[in-house]
Amino acid sequence: MQEVELYYIKKKYPVFVTYLNASKKDLKDINNNIIKYREDNPKSNDSNVKAWHSTYNTHEQTDSFDSINQKIVHECNEIINDFNDTKVRYEITNMWLNMYEKGDHTVNHCHNALGNYYSCCYYTDVEENCSPIKFPPKLDIIPKNDMLIIFGGHVYHEVPPTSGKRTLISINFFNIDESLGIKRFDVPLKLKYS
Ligand SMILES: [Fe+2]
Repeated sequence: MQEVELYYIKKKYPVFVTYLNASKKDLKDINNNIIKYREDNPKSNDSNVKAWHSTYNTHEQTDSFDSINQKIVHECNEIINDFNDTKVRYEITNMWLNMYEKGDHTVNHCHNALGNYYSCCYYTDVEENCSPIKFPPKLDIIPKNDMLIIFGGHVYHEVPPTSGKRTLISINFFNIDESLGIKRFDVPLKLKYS
């Protein structure tokens, strides 16, 4: 496992920050795949994200991101299980792509109130003057390329209007360990992700 920085929201809710150590070539390939996906799917999803973003089941629409998704989920499983002292399995329930350009932003929101539900952002192409992701009341994290941020689905976050571009993969994942009596379920469509 890579080194992990740990922050707390309201002294209670953890936010993990780490890196996957992807090579520059890997990041370039991922970014090219994101650009290609956007070219093929120019219409943005509609949500709290006021920037182009793909549908929430992008991982089921293409296999272009299978390799990086696998790495992200592996790292998230290790970090969350290590933190919670558990041995359960988290799988992707939603995955989508985001491309923020100058002026784009995201309204404050959370993804899911369930305690065994996590979300993450993996940044693949960001400029130095890009906006942070803000976790109210006072945690701001300025993304860097290859940075992975993990947080509970109930943790609120927002992105103020950005000056520099910020391209990232977002994933929601859920503990499907049946020994806990939890099974994969379809997330209600009325929930708005970003
Ligand atoms: Fe979000």
